[in-house]
Amino acid sequence: MKDAAPQAVHLSEYRPFSHLIDHVALTFRLSPQGTRVISKIAFRPNPEAAPSRELKLDGEQLKLISARIDGRPVNTEVTETGLTCAVPEGAFVWEAEVEIAPADNTALEGLYMSNGMYCTQCEAEGFRKITYYPDRPDVMAPFDVRVESDLPVMLSNGNPTAQGKGWAEWHDPWRKPAYLFALVAGDLVAHSGRFTTMEGRDVALNIWVRPGDEGKCDYALDALIRSMKWDEEVYGRAYDLDVFNIVAVDDFNMGAMENKGLNIFNSKYVLASPETATDRDYELIEGIIAHEYFHNWTGNRITCRDWFQLCLKEGLTVFRDQQFSGDMRSAAVKRIESVLQLRARQFREDNGPLAHPVRPESYIEINNFYTATVYEKGAEVIGMLKRLVGDEGYYKALDLYFDRHDGQACTIEDWLKVFEDATGRDLAQFKRWYSQSGTPRLHVEESFEGSRLTVRLRQETPPTPGQSEKLPQVIPLAFGLLHPDGHEMVGTQMVEMDEVETVLTFDTEGVRPVLSLLRGFSAPVIVERDLTAEDRAFLLAHDTDPFNRWEAGRALAKDVLVGMITKGSVAGPDYLSALEQVLRDDGLDPAFRSLALALPGEDDLAQTLADGGMTPDPAAIHGARRKLSLAIAQHLSGVLADTYDAMDVPGPYTPDAKAAGVRALRLTALGLLSRVDGGRRAARQFQQADNMTEQLGALTALLTIGEGGAQVADFYRQWSHDRLVLDKWFNLQAMYAPPEDAAGIVEKLSQHPDFDWRNPNRFRSLIGGLAANHAGLHEASGESYELIADWLIRLDPKNPQTAARMTTIFETWRRYDADRQQMMRAALERIAAAPGLSRDSTEMVGRILG
Ligand code: TRP
Ligand code: ZN
Repeated sequence: MKDAAPQAVHLSEYRPFSHLIDHVALTFRLSPQGTRVISKIAFRPNPEAAPSRELKLDGEQLKLISARIDGRPVNTEVTETGLTCAVPEGAFVWEAEVEIAPADNTALEGLYMSNGMYCTQCEAEGFRKITYYPDRPDVMAPFDVRVESDLPVMLSNGNPTAQGKGWAEWHDPWRKPAYLFALVAGDLVAHSGRFTTMEGRDVALNIWVRPGDEGKCDYALDALIRSMKWDEEVYGRAYDLDVFNIVAVDDFNMGAMENKGLNIFNSKYVLASPETATDRDYELIEGIIAHEYFHNWTGNRITCRDWFQLCLKEGLTVFRDQQFSGDMRSAAVKRIESVLQLRARQFREDNGPLAHPVRPESYIEINNFYTATVYEKGAEVIGMLKRLVGDEGYYKALDLYFDRHDGQACTIEDWLKVFEDATGRDLAQFKRWYSQSGTPRLHVEESFEGSRLTVRLRQETPPTPGQSEKLPQVIPLAFGLLHPDGHEMVGTQMVEMDEVETVLTFDTEGVRPVLSLLRGFSAPVIVERDLTAEDRAFLLAHDTDPFNRWEAGRALAKDVLVGMITKGSVAGPDYLSALEQVLRDDGLDPAFRSLALALPGEDDLAQTLADGGMTPDPAAIHGARRKLSLAIAQHLSGVLADTYDAMDVPGPYTPDAKAAGVRALRLTALGLLSRVDGGRRAARQFQQADNMTEQLGALTALLTIGEGGAQVADFYRQWSHDRLVLDKWFNLQAMYAPPEDAAGIVEKLSQHPDFDWRNPNRFRSLIGGLAANHAGLHEASGESYELIADWLIRLDPKNPQTAARMTTIFETWRRYDADRQQMMRAALERIAAAPGLSRDSTEMVGRILG
């Protein structure tokens, strides 16, 4: 069995494939249990590879019906993972017919079925479950595809060429690797639009959904059109086919997939109406539509040589979608949200047993490396490059990248070389960001004497698995100085720290300035700096850099919470009045005010305590956070009530950032007020809400204070017909369950007839919801650990990819006390011992246990 002895793949062992492909023709005769895939592939020797009279193709779970070379049957040696056969010296045509069973494919990788519809997911290595092929990103080819079935809609990559009753043909002129192949067939309807590119190409845009959902596609289509326009304006990149299709699928392992000309989306990132989707959903739809569209240039036209280079497309494309969202919405708010996400997911990863470089050097299962480090830290690395070379240098380098590498499968070396060539900079040291794992700590010491401020900065990256020694990295450090009267003395400047120690001095004519450091979060590092509550409150009130304003408030809240947890102290008046000032400041964007008021999450606090050498107590963290919320609500009840009322903007719901920001602030106020009004306002809002943002926000506020039983039942009655809304119903109950009841509540919900655990969205809503309930997950009995392990063991044989991803629930096990460590280790060991555990989960659990 292949699962018995998983083999690691190493970057250092890359070799080009023996052959190139000039053309691929595929015919699909679709049938749930016996789909026939007929392939005809024109190979020729690869001049860059050692000559080979042997052809090795990847293939898994395929029934080989026939194989021919140049029309003559050939002998093949077939194994669990592929086949080998002898081939002529020069060019030849490979023809094969295989049979597969999409209806039995529960892993959602390769060709599978979702609610009667056929669809594919080939990244990273799913094409090998469709037919025999060199399933690696550096083998690129133009594809012709014929689909035969009695379903009304049949789609594949590229442009449609012909269709008749029971068949459709597609031609994709752009050479692409197999992971970008896609096919969809089903009873679908399109919500359509058009876009004319700057090159004058008239493009038909279609969003394909199940009948009944066509009214929920407006926003996705609008986001697509804005993305197309933005990529032309900012990067000079135009779309390159006559059609762009997007299909929404209910069963999907990830968010979405950038298949050439035929993006496939998890339906939750396409379908939206004011009644069923929250502001957050709209924001995610916009960002993910943009992300997948931007891949057309960064990923598809220029792809990865091998999977170690994944960040080449993902880091860059995340960076591009973040830029886009910043332009569409508020750049400051977007930056804060990106950093929140980076810290919650990537810092957590970088601090634990799963830490790996942005460009890993080995893997067992590549699906396990679609991580926050590759994506989000990968995007931060691009952001740092941009800061270092400046905007002009950045866009010059990008133009060169598109010029030089269009149509190629590239490496991080190629990427850095265009920056070196375009800007003349040496990036040898910068490259360490791609090879060193772990989050650098930046220790800051300040002294002020006479008229001189001296700032000593020291960088240090703690050891991570497999990397005990770390070298200094290039850290672009943006900073400014504020005069004690609040005005800016030195506007934002940048220093490049490239040694372990850097000393900055400022002559300041006798006044002691306040240093605003790491403005805009100019590098993904952890700043360790002792700052008084006064200085933090000062920065919160006066910093001209919005990110650092927010950061000061967050640090203030963290200090207060850590004091409450470790010393039993209470929130001081400084903190409360600083919050009040922010709340009352009408000059501040409501979205920003909402973010500034939100307290750090419990997992974040646990990490902060662990970083400080303490053992986090989940119940104490939960208690302190509740207590602080109550204190804020009590002290600021008047201004919170005013804010709640003032943010009640009449008129129909619109999903734009401005309106969403107003609702966000209103909900933040509601969450706090509910702690002192017994849920009166929330209950009323739940009754009156005409949109999901306000309905769900009200329900959250009620659940948070231990109320909401009746509303949970009402919500179910109202929405049991809508699967995406029902996901929210499951999720909320798990996330906001009282810690001591969480396992029981989730266990009971898992018996609910609507808990379709084979659907990844539903599974993540409930089981992932429990994991997001920090105190509930770590409740002292260990019941939640057990329940999660049971479910992962059950899911793994059906859907290894999703099960393996979710083992990261346990990645922080070493943070906690001995009892909890022991229980989490036992849960992990139980998963590891499950008979037939997938290669995916085996690798993850092994790494987490260390
Ligand atoms: N390339 C996709 C993206 O980032 C990610 C993705 C979608 C994926 N589905 C997947 C990765 C399945 C691995 C497996 O947009
Ligand atoms: Zn991507």
